[in-house]
Amino acid sequence: MKRKLLPAWIVGIVVGAGAGYALNAFAQAKPDVLVKQRQAAMTLQGKYFYGQLRPMAQGKIPYDADQAARAAAFLEALSRMPWDGFVPGTRDVKSGALPAIYEQPGKFKEAQERAQAEISKLVALTKSGDEAAVKAQILVVNKACSACHNDFRERQ
Ligand code: HEC
Repeated sequence: MKRKLLPAWIVGIVVGAGAGYALNAFAQAKPDVLVKQRQAAMTLQGKYFYGQLRPMAQGKIPYDADQAARAAAFLEALSRMPWDGFVPGTRDVKSGALPAIYEQPGKFKEAQERAQAEISKLVALTKSGDEAAVKAQILVVNKACSACHNDFRERQ
């Protein structure tokens, strides 16, 4: 099926307006709302990663290339969402976030970037049709999620 692409100027306006909205919402959100939102982004990463990608890599559910590509693409967007919700103003809200997040912000940021880089590689691999490589990369992403959880998230 052929789709008409939107002219670049429309895309520019929409993206620009989205950025402005995000900034405003961020400035106004209360700490408990920020915590809910960042947890929601994490919960959805759990849906697509722990619920679909990881069990495919572990052979617990059948591998489906289209489903893997879809889940990886969602994960890539979701994995960029939680971070602006981890601000010091949320420290007093009960959550799974450890104080280390605010004590070692550089290390926390590195863990984010590492996970995002590995997820981007996963997205690229899902377009390659190489099932073994996709599965191997899912397990690399799993390590990147766990590395951060080990250091910055309360033990479950
Ligand atoms: C840079 C650190 C970091 C990375 C990377 C990270 N997480 Fe998290 N995750 C956290 C923190 C911190 C919390 C606790 C957040 C809170 O309670 O506010 C959390 C919470 C969660 C939760 C529980 C959400 C809830 O409702 O309380 C799930 C599910 C989750 N992460 C999944 C993932 C998956 C899947 C990945 C990898 C694809 C991932 N996370 C990568 C830091 C990270």
